[in-house]
Amino acid sequence: MKKRIIVGATGASGMPVLVKCLELIREQREMESYLIMSESAKLTLVQETEMTPEQVGNLADVVLEERDIGARPASGSFQTEGMLIVPCSMKTVAGIHSGYGENLILRAADVTVKEHRTLVLAARETPLSGIHLRNLQELSMLPGVRIIPPMMTFYHRPQTIDEMVYHVAARLVEPFGIEAKEYRRWNGW
Ligand SMILES: Cc1cc2nc3c(=O)[nH]c(=O)nc-3n(C[C@H](O)[C@H](O)[C@H](O)COP(=O)(O)O)c2cc1C
Repeated sequence: MKKRIIVGATGASGMPVLVKCLELIREQREMESYLIMSESAKLTLVQETEMTPEQVGNLADVVLEERDIGARPASGSFQTEGMLIVPCSMKTVAGIHSGYGENLILRAADVTVKEHRTLVLAARETPLSGIHLRNLQELSMLPGVRIIPPMMTFYHRPQTIDEMVYHVAARLVEPFGIEAKEYRRWNGW
């Protein structure tokens, strides 16, 4: 059986990072992705890229609707490696923080937390308010939860936006055991 990763996409900025993460998961023969895009994510995608939600869906193995609250990731008995939410809005951060599982992304995240599986949040907003920071800090204390904001790095000397996006995406899939081929890790001086 292939290892399953649930990928949630919400309406924060960062859709090229979502696309790159799906491509990196797709390169792994032993893994499959279950993509859930919120309605806001679909709007932001059109704003930030030339892609349609259907084209992004084609990069995933399975596409589920956010309203489909009875789908398999809504249950802890559905075995997964965990969940990546990229990008992750502050609304969705707040929903996870309060256990408010009102759509499939929030429910799947809630299940991931309660099962102590890996939950990676590419949380993105600027500036961050005290409410955002409190929610993120408290979530970071839960077993399995990793807050990995999609932040720029320069030490690998990116020449293009794509190289920068690749580096961010590589960091996001790493907790699931994925070593992106072109990821240039910092190995000291
Ligand atoms: C172009 C655009 C960019 C946005 N960027 C962010 C962002 O970076 N962070 C954030 O928390 N919300 C952002 N939002 C607002 C969210 O889309 C909005 O709060 C939405 O309700 C989130 O819902 P969801 O978490 O269910 O996807 C953005 C909205 C738009 C239209």
